[in-house]
Order: sequence, then C-alpha cells, then structure tokens
Amino acid sequence: MEKYIINGGNKLYGSVKIQSSKNSVLPILAATVLTDGKVKILNVPHISDVKNMVKILSCLGCKAVYDGDNIIIDSSSADCFEIPSALAHELRSSVFLLGSVISRFRYAKIAYPGGCDIGLRPVDLHLTGLKRLGVQITEKNGYILCKCDKLRGNEIMLDCPSVGATENIMLAAVKAEGTTIIKNAAREPEIEDLQNFLNRIGAKVSGAGSGTIRIDGVNKLEGCEYLPIPDRIEAGTFLIGAAMCGGEITAEGAYPENISSLIHKLTENGCKIHINNDKIVLENHKRLASVKSIETQPYPGFPTDLQAQFTALCCICEGHSIVTENLFETRFKYVPELRKMGADITVIDRNAFVRGVEKFKGATVVANDLRGGAALVLAGLAADGRSEVMGISHIDRGYGSFEYKLRNLGADIVRVTV
Ligand code: UD1
Repeated sequence: MEKYIINGGNKLYGSVKIQSSKNSVLPILAATVLTDGKVKILNVPHISDVKNMVKILSCLGCKAVYDGDNIIIDSSSADCFEIPSALAHELRSSVFLLGSVISRFRYAKIAYPGGCDIGLRPVDLHLTGLKRLGVQITEKNGYILCKCDKLRGNEIMLDCPSVGATENIMLAAVKAEGTTIIKNAAREPEIEDLQNFLNRIGAKVSGAGSGTIRIDGVNKLEGCEYLPIPDRIEAGTFLIGAAMCGGEITAEGAYPENISSLIHKLTENGCKIHINNDKIVLENHKRLASVKSIETQPYPGFPTDLQAQFTALCCICEGHSIVTENLFETRFKYVPELRKMGADITVIDRNAFVRGVEKFKGATVVANDLRGGAALVLAGLAADGRSEVMGISHIDRGYGSFEYKLRNLGADIVRVTV
C-alpha cells in the first residue's frame, strides 16, 4: 500500500512531456492478437492498466518484451482463448480482447470485466455487435462465452456511441468475411488512432472520427511500429493542475485539437493559453472565475475523464458552477473527499452544485477511482498545508510517473509506503 504526501501551495512552472494515450494503447494492445507479425508500440505509458493488459496477452501465449518506453508484442505463438478472471476483474479494457480473440480462435471466454467503479458500465452493446457478426454468446457464472464458425460482416447500429463497443466491433470485423458498417459509432480520437493502427498492419478501415465506420474484411495482417496519439486526459489533468496552483506550464507533445473543449473552458475561466503546434502553454496568476455550467458528453464534448479534475478547479473559482455528468452514474464518488478539503459541493442526481471557496485546506483523503484520485492530488497541490492521498493504486492505472512529472514542475509531492 502506498500513498502520496503533498505539501500544497507551490506554483507549477516548466514543461511536461505527455505520454501516449492510455485509451489508445489498450485497444491497440488487444489488436495485436489479430496478427502474427511483430508489433512495436512506442512511448507506452508505465501504468498498471497497460501492465495488466500485457499480462493478459502473455497468458494468451503472446510474447511481450519491454524496450524502455516501447513494447514489442509477438502474437505468433498465441494459443489460448480464455482471459484469466483475476486480470479481467482488474481491467475493464480486457473486454476489447473478445473481438480479437474470437477473430483468432473462433472461441473466447472472459469473466465480466472490472475497471473503475464509476457506474453500471454494461457490455450489452459489445455483445449485440458481436452477435451481429455471427458470434454465439452465452453468459454463465459470471463468464461470457463466445463461439462462431465464421465471422461475417454486417451493419451494426449502436444504441449509443460507446467507445469500447465501437472498438471491440472494429477488432472482430477486421478479418471477418465481407463488409461491416458501424453506425452511431463513437467519434473519440482514440477510435481514429485504432483505425490508423489497424490500417498500418494491413486492415481496411475507414470513417473513424465520424459516426459511420466501414471495415472491409481482410485475410492477413502483418507487423508494424506504431506511435499512438498523446494522452489528452493526461495533458488536460496537468493543465487543470496549473490553473488551480497558478504558474506557467507547457504540455509538450499534446494534440491541442483533441482537448479543445477543455481549452475553451479554461480560457472562459480566465487562464491564458497559447498553442504552438504540439505545445500547449497555460499561464495563470490569479483566482479564476467560475464557468457557471459544464456537462460531460461524448467527443467532441467535454470528456467525462476530466470531469473530476475540472470540478476540483471549480471548487476554488470565484462564484458558483454546476457540473453535470451525463455518461457514468456514480462518477462523483470523490466529492465527499474533496469536502474534507473544504470544498462546498452538493450532488443531486447527475449534477454537482459547486460554491467556490477561497482555498482548499490540506487533509487525508482516499482515492476511489482513477480520475477522482487525480482530482484529489490536484486539490492537495493547490491546498494550504499538508495532504495525504491514500488509494493511489487507482491513480497508477492511468498516470505514468505522475509524482515525478509533478515534482519536475515544482510540486512538493512524494510517494511513501504505508
Ligand atoms: C471509454 C474509456 C473511458 C471513458 C469512456 C467515455 C477506454 C479504455 N476507456 O470507456 O476512459 O471514460 O470511454 O469516454 O477507452 N454503455 C452501455 N452499454 C455498453 C457499453 C457502454 O450502455 O455495452 C454506456 C455506458 O454505461 C456509458 C456510455 O455507454 O454510459 C459510454 O460508455 P463507453 O463509451 O462504452 O465507455 P468505455 O468504453 O467503458
């Protein structure tokens, strides 16, 4: 068990290099099961979600080798279609493996996936999509069992633009017979990144980034070297941190257009933001104004994965804000912890009503999920006095070298073993 100890109040100055997107790397890793060629993925974040996905790939018989910040996966020896339940419980993205494992073995078995406890997070759209491609599915004793003789392309209309379901169906369809059309597909940048990766290994996918994706099945895929897109949520977290603490930071190697919804809101708050190609510079030296209201939406709307961090910012802005969470039912679990730090927040249904206070005060708080945990760290950095953040294994799921990067910006934060 580890925790962070933070002495708040330092302004943040300097540059932070943004890691490859967690939400790109995970489905790309799942996609490596589709090919016998060697795949080298570059600038991979050192986070536990990636480590767990690599462990699952090893259990499937794939060979994975770390080479600094890169990972080389060789799936030519893959020989197992069962995803171990302990690892599936650790990682929601393990569900993406259904698409690639069924494509490779015509069988797949997985326990219901885990991940952050932020709401119901069903997988019905994933399963309905796979059924449309010819997969027979039975659900028994907490396991999902899939089998098929042949995968056949089809038209699939998603009830809502689920990121995971879109990716899973893309993976299953890449080597299916004929053409698959996904309608009402998710439009997140990570979907386009998965498309680009799949095309690099020889797939025929088009339309990602729009609501309609077309996949023409191919017989064979090969290897490649691939650099995934930067992590827009990591970049956003550091920018919000600098807005809260004050100072001037540069997020380097970011794609500003992928977080334009956040950049607009931070500018509306009163932050000065300059964009120079892949660098986002944020400068702030004063208490910010509230943004009045903000709601999470599928891309290109405001990302649910930045909701907690942005709410932490609203807590110390001047005036009232209303934050509405439209994607996940229980994504305000961090609120009682922020209240321990002096925040004035009332949650009613999907809305958090925030009354700005001058400052957070240091406290001992517990992270219950990844992004909520990041929000608590940012609050600790901006607070008067000392904070302890427990439960940081949740934060390790998505932020590589988090405290190291923050210390480089001038924060006083250390990781200690409890
Ligand atoms: C992905 C991201 C996560 C992000 C989320 C929304 C990864 C690894 N994770 O999660 O960080 O917060 O997108 O941007 O990429 N839904 C159903 N049935 C389904 C699937 C989803 O009803 O079968 C609902 C969910 O309950 C939720 C909404 O669809 O309300 C969006 O979920 P989805 O886009 O699937 O999120 P994830 O893929 O789990």
